[in-house]
Amino acid sequence: MSENPEPQDQTDVAPDRPCSAWVAKVITLVPGAFPGVLGESLTGKALDEGRWRLDVTDLRPFGVGRHKNVDDTPAGGGAGMVLRADVLADALDHVGADMPTDRARWPLVYLSPRGARFDQATAQRFAACEGVTLLCGRFEGVDERVLEEYGIEEVSLGDFVMTGGEIAAMAVIDAAVRLRPGVLGNLASTEDESFSHGLLEHPHYTRPAEWRGRTIPDVLLSGHHGEIGKLRQAEAERITRERRPDLWAAHVEKKRGGP
Ligand SMILES: C[S@@+](CC[C@H](N)C(=O)[O-])C[C@H]1O[C@@H](n2cnc3c(N)ncnc32)[C@H](O)[C@@H]1O
Repeated sequence: MSENPEPQDQTDVAPDRPCSAWVAKVITLVPGAFPGVLGESLTGKALDEGRWRLDVTDLRPFGVGRHKNVDDTPAGGGAGMVLRADVLADALDHVGADMPTDRARWPLVYLSPRGARFDQATAQRFAACEGVTLLCGRFEGVDERVLEEYGIEEVSLGDFVMTGGEIAAMAVIDAAVRLRPGVLGNLASTEDESFSHGLLEHPHYTRPAEWRGRTIPDVLLSGHHGEIGKLRQAEAERITRERRPDLWAAHVEKKRGGP
């Protein structure tokens, strides 16, 4: 690592974790954004318990020159700035020094609007790994060559553009961490929820039984679990059909015996 002193990880929230803890490594220009909401509620409790670990690395110390520049103007002209390949490579090498190079064990991800849309299947894939490294872009993005050189997978939060990859990284981490053993009190709640069976989830109700003239479907108060299951399945199918024709078509195809 050429011009850099020893850049330090900014956040090592649960250093005495069990060895099996899932690890999220984040490279960012705004390390102060972490753990943010990930330090709250169930993900925060799991972080405190050492069920997962968050290693946040500030990209700035890897910058070049007296001013630690991390970006430069786009080749070919145009607006904005691009994160430099050499700076990113130094950060990636530093962060990757102690982790598996097999991407199936440890995905290396650049959060990008150009990426494959993040979904529950990807969350499950990441959660099943030993950890994941997430590179957060800023400005116009990163030099393409670093993506090619390191075989980096691009993942998008959706068809919109944010100012940086940090919120997307937090969404990815949250979705993966909650699938890790022991993070949610009731494991069944990840098995029944939206996307787990290719359908959106059925509606939920709770007390009071009547609110502003609106009641709860009688079946849900009947205690008849077979009928409750049927109603929930029918509602999940109705909502999926109405709101997500893409998911519905895939569901119908699967029931017909398709891939
Ligand atoms: C202003 S954006 C760059 C947008 C890029 N010039 C483009 O048109 O695709 C800056 C950074 O925010 C992050 N970002 C923005 N929108 C995102 C999204 N929908 N999903 C994931 N990351 C996103 C990426 O890391 C990106 O490098």
